[in-house]
Amino acid sequence: MNNRYAVILAAGQGKRMKSDLYKVLHPVCGKPMVEHVVDQVTKAGLNEIVTVIGHGADAVKQHIGDRVSYVLQKEQLGTGHAVIQTKEHLKDRKGVTVVLCGDTPLIRAETIEALMNHHEQTAAKATVLTAYAHNPSGYGRVVRDEQGGVLRIVEEKDADETERQVKEINTGTYCFDNELLFDALSKVGNDNAQGEYYLPDVIEILKAQGETLSAWQTPDFSETIGVNDRVALSQAEKAMKKRTNEHWMRQGVTIIDPDHTYISADAVLKPDTVLHPGTMLHGEVEIESHCDIGPFTEITDSRIGEGTSIRQSVVSNSNVGRNVKAGPYAHIRPESELGDEVKIGNFVEVKKSSLKKGSKASHLSYVGDAEIGERVNLGCGSITVNYDGKQKYLTTIENDVFVGCNANLVAPVKVGEGAFIAAGSTITDDVPGKALSIARSRQTNKEGYVKNKEEL
Ligand code: UD1
Ligand code: MG
Repeated sequence: MNNRYAVILAAGQGKRMKSDLYKVLHPVCGKPMVEHVVDQVTKAGLNEIVTVIGHGADAVKQHIGDRVSYVLQKEQLGTGHAVIQTKEHLKDRKGVTVVLCGDTPLIRAETIEALMNHHEQTAAKATVLTAYAHNPSGYGRVVRDEQGGVLRIVEEKDADETERQVKEINTGTYCFDNELLFDALSKVGNDNAQGEYYLPDVIEILKAQGETLSAWQTPDFSETIGVNDRVALSQAEKAMKKRTNEHWMRQGVTIIDPDHTYISADAVLKPDTVLHPGTMLHGEVEIESHCDIGPFTEITDSRIGEGTSIRQSVVSNSNVGRNVKAGPYAHIRPESELGDEVKIGNFVEVKKSSLKKGSKASHLSYVGDAEIGERVNLGCGSITVNYDGKQKYLTTIENDVFVGCNANLVAPVKVGEGAFIAAGSTITDDVPGKALSIARSRQTNKEGYVKNKEEL
């Protein structure tokens, strides 16, 4: 097998996005477009990946990290000019170079491999990945001769009426013989509608040199969507969502309404879990089997144990155990740990707190900066008073504590094992284990205080 290199073009600003965010950093299913491309190229197992950066260079580097090497394109003079910037890295090296655009987030490793294999099998010097588009508008068109051989690629802005009718598009992904690529690039001019150095012009140049050219058409246009504006961004999002959802359904996950279920590219789900409409899983989410998630539930960077049910709730950066019940309307904020069989009911907020096995906060509570043992019952409306306006303090509640309704636990405070807090108490001092603590004023009944209405 030849040496295989990849060049990813990611230097453009993306004017058509009309955005403060650089184009290739716009997320699709929660992940920047260019990161999707890098992930797939990495999976395809190439010897070296060079990414061309320019606009937003630092931000792009920060997202991708050191999985690739970088070259800077100071001025964005076109896709051909962008590839020339990689010359120092790749020139004089034997092998095949695949060039991809950072704005085609749906490209798959399997397709990159198939394209490279086709390129090598046909002994071509350049192979274009093409697709049939019902609406080819905005894409470069593939012009073929009567025998079906590739002649050249023409950009829409430079195309004549007949060329514009062509529905086979240039996907922006190509394979080249590495040495011939840089030789041909030096011959690319910028005499065209956009005054840019076009990479696709290499095809025509190689053709004129009598080199063998090839094209490989992918059957799935959606895989090659090039995102230049927000309309295409929404098409990419829709296509990626469909792909991801179908993947998980094939893995045994039930998705009641795939059109309204959003699963990040980095989520991992286990069979027999059910996702109800309006479920959104962001970032690195792991959900074990037999869970029941949603409707209308947002989970970010969290782990959910087997058999857990989360309804109409928000969970972020937390670990949720097995057979937990959360919601409706629970808010599990970052750094929370819910043990097995914990119950977090309606209008309960948990922040940076742990509740061990079997503990419950079933209604209308705030649990912040708290360490709560096993089988603790937090009554309706109980609150950990964790903040004095300057600092946060810890509330510790040991196993088997019963906190009555509407109790305030003013931190720092510790409630010992098996203690009982009377309803309505405001606890400011530690409570010994097994004690009953009542911290409220006594009730006084003033007989006859309220006059009969007739007497008023
Ligand atoms: C390009 C192709 C077009 C193809 C389409 C597929 C050219 C001239 N046209 O058009 O035939 O159908 O992709 O999606 O190549 N970039 C740089 N530096 C530059 C210019 C662009 O790095 O100077 C990067 C961009 O960040 C982007 C990629 O190259 O990721 C493609 O550029 P873009 O402007 O989106 O080209 P298209 O008009 O989509
Ligand atoms: Mg584009």
